[in-house]
Amino acid sequence: MPTTKHGAYGLPKATKSINKPLHKSLICTIFPHLCNNYHNLDYFRDLPLLLHHHHPFVFINDMIQQEPNDSTQKKLFTALRILIGLLLGAVAIFFLLVSILFFDTPTLPTEEPVLVQKTYTKPDSNFTGVWLAPADWRMSQLSPEKQQLVKYGKELIAHTATYLGPKGSVRHLSNGMNCQNCHLNAGTQPWGNNYFAVESTYPKFRERSGGIENKIKRVNDCFERSLNGKALDSTSREMQAIITYIEWLGTGVASKTSPKGSGIFKLKLLSRAADPDKGKIVYEQKCQSCHQAQGEGVLAADGKSYSFPPLWGKNSYNTGAGLYRISNFAGYVKYNMPLGATYQNPQLSDEEAWDVAAFVNSMPRPTKDLSKDWPNLAGKPFDHPFGPYADSFSEKQHKYGPYQPIKAWKEQHKGLKVPHSKLAKL
Ligand code: HEC
Ligand code: HEC
Repeated sequence: MPTTKHGAYGLPKATKSINKPLHKSLICTIFPHLCNNYHNLDYFRDLPLLLHHHHPFVFINDMIQQEPNDSTQKKLFTALRILIGLLLGAVAIFFLLVSILFFDTPTLPTEEPVLVQKTYTKPDSNFTGVWLAPADWRMSQLSPEKQQLVKYGKELIAHTATYLGPKGSVRHLSNGMNCQNCHLNAGTQPWGNNYFAVESTYPKFRERSGGIENKIKRVNDCFERSLNGKALDSTSREMQAIITYIEWLGTGVASKTSPKGSGIFKLKLLSRAADPDKGKIVYEQKCQSCHQAQGEGVLAADGKSYSFPPLWGKNSYNTGAGLYRISNFAGYVKYNMPLGATYQNPQLSDEEAWDVAAFVNSMPRPTKDLSKDWPNLAGKPFDHPFGPYADSFSEKQHKYGPYQPIKAWKEQHKGLKVPHSKLAKL
């Protein structure tokens, strides 16, 4: 039993000096009064006092450090551990109750779980791996002179009328439309009638002229037909610029190939004839707001080019133009119109595209003398709207369809040559 003289807090004072290990000296520095006493504690007697006066951790630590040398101490030690265990348990239960109180009881799903089937739809392989225009930084590979031409060429494609239209600053050759009205994004839009396959496939034989055409001839075809104008001088800086730009767009395209996405998309044929009456309804609902009730379009504020180009009437493309063939028109609008539609985001059904093409191309427009076209009658495309033909289908069927019988006939007569009687050439 310890001596009875009491120290701080009424605890018995130690009678001999203590050999303190490091952690104890630490405790002693913080709680000097404990050090004086802890060898002589009678825990049963002093427990309430200790609990009352000392930090519990220090107290517990003290106990652990003391070798329990009799069974009472061992019991006390075990009791204390149980006490701590119970305490921790109580704290855990407390937090559980609090969390249930505040965050609601977890409810188990009562219904059968619905399996959300995430079906993976493979991207339509028709529309993947599409060719794109060369990046602008590659222009640095060109000589400064060529870079100038490429830029000027692009400018002429995008703003043709500003330079070559009825009020053009360079010459007056064309009808006020821009090449870009039909060759979207300056001829770089996938299936937006782009120029990706021009450099790689020209010069080439074309049935329409019955001869080998180079790029200059092809560009002038559009000046004379799509822009209902006159040919551009092949030696002019403007023609040089347009050709250089078109060459540039062909960068990286293998010779004699047409990369995916080039030109105009070839729509599946309808099994019936395209219907101008149905197309009129489509036009009124989806086109008229921009292209106007008489198809005349809207002139831009500068009065030189169009905000919305004309689709028929005196300022539109003429009867010799590529768009005057319904398959070209339908394929073009399917993936480009109403403005903003793309091959990734089409707005028209195939039927609507064919029918609106039939409607627009049934309306009046400038005519072109086509008597020199198609020296081989059998080389006329299935949807060319003017006879004479090598086959016996009517002009009407050639114009609007159904096209399958005509295509089948052409398939059976591949390689056939039927010279145009009025053209001495063949
Ligand atoms: C009214 C619409 C329209 C306008 C405007 C137009 N084009 Fe075209 N162009 C077409 C169509 C349609 C074709 C494709 C014809 C076909 O495949 O039969 C085409 C084809 C071409 C081609 C050949 C493409 C190829 O891959 O074979 C070139 C080159 C071309 N146009 C250049 C021009 C230039 C340059 C201008 C401006 C001076 C222009 N076009 C203005 C509609 C237009
Ligand atoms: C929101 C306005 C808008 C709507 C709606 C619209 N277009 Fe266009 N369309 C344009 C513009 C603008 C261009 C010229 C694009 C350019 O220069 O970049 C154009 C060009 C065209 C062209 C080629 C140029 C020409 O004049 O021949 C055709 C063909 C055409 N649209 C047909 C249609 C058809 C068919 C519809 C309805 C299905 C339609 N568009 C709906 C704005 C529109």
